[in-house]
Amino acid sequence: MKDAAPQTIYLSDYTPPAYLVGDVHLTFKLAATKTRVLSRIAFRPNPDATDHDFFLHGDDLTLISARIDGQDINPDLHSGGLRCAVPDGPFVFEAEVEISPSTNTALEGLYMSNGMYCTQCEAEGFRKITYYPDRPDVMAVFTVRIESDLPVLLSNGNPTATGKDWAEWHDPWPKPAYLFALVAGDLVAHPNTFTTRSGRQVDLNLWVRPGGDEAKCAFGMAALKASMKWDEDVYGREYDLDLFNIVAVDDFNMGAMENKGLNIFNASAVLASPQTATDADFERIEAIIAHEYFHNWTGNRITCRDWFQLCLKEGLTVFRDQQFTGDLRSAAVKRIDDTMMLRAYQFREDNGPLAHPVRPESFVEINNFYTATVYEKGAELIGLLKLLVGDQAYFDALDLYFTRHDGDAATIEDWLQVFEDTTGRDLSQFKKWYAQAGTPRLTVRDEYADGTYRLHLRQETPPTPGQPDKDPLLIPVAVGLLDQNGAEVLPTTILEMTKAEQSFTFDGLSGRPIPSVLRNFSAPVIVVHDMTDAERALLLAHDTDPFNRWDAGRTLAQDVLVRMLRQNATPDTAFLDGLAAVLRDDALDPAFRALALRLPSEDDTAQALFDAGHTPDPTAINQAHETLKLHIAQHLQDTLPRIYAAMSVTGPYTPDAGPAGQRALGNAVLGLISKLDGGKQAAQQFASADNMTQQLGALRALLQISKGDAELAAFEAQWQHDRLVMDKWFGLQVSLAAAPDAAATAEKLTRHPAFDMKNPNRFRSVFGGLKANTAGFHHASGAAYALLADWLIKLDPINPQTAARMTMSYDTWKRYDGERQTKMRAALSKIAQTPQLSRDTEEMVTRILG
Ligand code: PHE
Ligand code: ZN
Repeated sequence: MKDAAPQTIYLSDYTPPAYLVGDVHLTFKLAATKTRVLSRIAFRPNPDATDHDFFLHGDDLTLISARIDGQDINPDLHSGGLRCAVPDGPFVFEAEVEISPSTNTALEGLYMSNGMYCTQCEAEGFRKITYYPDRPDVMAVFTVRIESDLPVLLSNGNPTATGKDWAEWHDPWPKPAYLFALVAGDLVAHPNTFTTRSGRQVDLNLWVRPGGDEAKCAFGMAALKASMKWDEDVYGREYDLDLFNIVAVDDFNMGAMENKGLNIFNASAVLASPQTATDADFERIEAIIAHEYFHNWTGNRITCRDWFQLCLKEGLTVFRDQQFTGDLRSAAVKRIDDTMMLRAYQFREDNGPLAHPVRPESFVEINNFYTATVYEKGAELIGLLKLLVGDQAYFDALDLYFTRHDGDAATIEDWLQVFEDTTGRDLSQFKKWYAQAGTPRLTVRDEYADGTYRLHLRQETPPTPGQPDKDPLLIPVAVGLLDQNGAEVLPTTILEMTKAEQSFTFDGLSGRPIPSVLRNFSAPVIVVHDMTDAERALLLAHDTDPFNRWDAGRTLAQDVLVRMLRQNATPDTAFLDGLAAVLRDDALDPAFRALALRLPSEDDTAQALFDAGHTPDPTAINQAHETLKLHIAQHLQDTLPRIYAAMSVTGPYTPDAGPAGQRALGNAVLGLISKLDGGKQAAQQFASADNMTQQLGALRALLQISKGDAELAAFEAQWQHDRLVMDKWFGLQVSLAAAPDAAATAEKLTRHPAFDMKNPNRFRSVFGGLKANTAGFHHASGAAYALLADWLIKLDPINPQTAARMTMSYDTWKRYDGERQTKMRAALSKIAQTPQLSRDTEEMVTRILG
């Protein structure tokens, strides 16, 4: 049953739950289309409640029977749940419901994936399993019995008893229903153990289906152990059960899920071997394993009062996993990577029709708010707070947070209060970051006279949907000054900006300095700063802040591209020489040099043009990018072979940061070499590669110059048995197709026997690939717009969550010319007019259309 008219939920309407839950007993009699779920739930009236309406959520359930204190009852069934009269004090509610996991293609609730039963309950999936107060501020102790003849039966917590065809589990930690999990299947364990710092031994298992995946577990397990150790060392957080299980699932909407003691992972976010996973995959897997593990304290032990507080757990946990990766690998490279992602996804979101605050104030479908803004901007706000209060106060505040709120369903107010109590600082202005959507523009002007330098800063946040007027934010601006020779004359200093306009003065200088503003990306803002190419080149060559060093090159590249497009300019030599100097500097980390070689994306250039008041032409942008790459290749011609050779890694493959950085630079250089040698070197690398990073890097280089047909066929023949590798094969062809062919390539691949729209990874590889092909997606024919719309309409009844998410491909429609706008709006309207459209997709297309 689905609501007829989707309702908007408001943060301001929050009221405490009418009833609280003590113990929950669940019995699952598993069967593909007729699973029975028996529940016994101990309720008591909530003394803090404002009303005593007894309502239990329930979706797509067949109620078989219900009892209160042992007496049969006949509840009122509503769309979305049930109501009934209840006694005046504590009581026991029992129900038996029937559900059908094998036809549950939405992958929410209890569903099946390749013969395995598994669950996904965040955010509101538990209501598809049984009647329950499915809200995170209702926390309870769960005891679960699973009856099935499948060999492995798992749930949260610890196993308490098992027999032929059944198993019982008990989780001693009270938890909200969204952290419930169950898995049943024919699975094999990759086992290990971890001894916590207090000496408790924890059994660890990574469960996979037999038949190949066993060989892809070792890295994920090592990452789990590293995460457990890191959280003890850095945050003083110890694991709190005797068992930690991870299960890899082929069909999953997101990356992974932090269910208490039983994390469930998209197979792509946990399984890796050198032959099948790239260095980037290894790093991503390490980060996701850490992320889900870290949720045990930031999310599970302390959870969210309501879904508006999602950033409380997600922003903090992303920040923690970013710190972890920075500690294990290179902090500078990680900061650059994260900022690139933030700009590509979060800034795009914040500057379009889907802009919303880090803590939204209303939603129709909460699944639509697992966004870059909540996650990535949410993480930036933690970093910003840490910068403002300092490291010591940050960790003191975190200790207070963990002791004060352990076992709570908390809010952003609770979170900020621990910082106010720790530091004595008033954070009311800082709090606006959580409520105000949009990316602030930080405009920088400066003047110099007689040894005195003045930096004039102005901040302005453009209007976003529903928020026409913006207040000034508290922005920490990390600044350093360099002299004209590139020597640092002022080390990093934090300027706290609190007003719309503010000036900062620096005395005692011996000449006009070059400012390095927003070092280490100290706040999620867009810096608008008119600098000369020569000044940027100087920062690229000499800044002591690695982030700004990289960013100077990035901005220079963006300016070059815009000038090529606007003025037909040829790429200037200040940029090319600067790039060459970085590339040739063997003292620099190869991973950093690889990042410096990477141009802004075509989507970045489109946004840059739009910001400057121009209508971007995707075809021209694509050509300018290709032309610039060719210029770079020609300019660096003499250096490329030497670097390529120097980056070859000897010895057995390891995914560590060092060799991974060498391979990243090797592949970046190979891309340039291919522009000059017609793909000879790339074909060689493809033929001799013994790891996926080099195999895929070579294939990418070939496809980028419209070669590689034979290699694509060889790749398919080699990997057709491996779903995760085949996802790459599907995706790469579409994302790198020549723009006029992109839609046709995607369409052709939907007819490939291995295309399966029910598998989110496969669907995303084709249609995410189409979106990633900016010129192809926006090709003037409109073919890609129409193709995606037709497939989203087909997908929506099967998997609304994934369909809704992928409507975001159209969220930049306002940037483009009238014809493209018309075609994109037509595609969106076609989706909007589909009968029975899901609440998820309807909300998204409505917001995108504005
Ligand atoms: N909470 C999960 C995470 O951040 C993400 C997720 C959300 C997974 C909703 C599934 C469904 O790790
Ligand atoms: Zn998370």
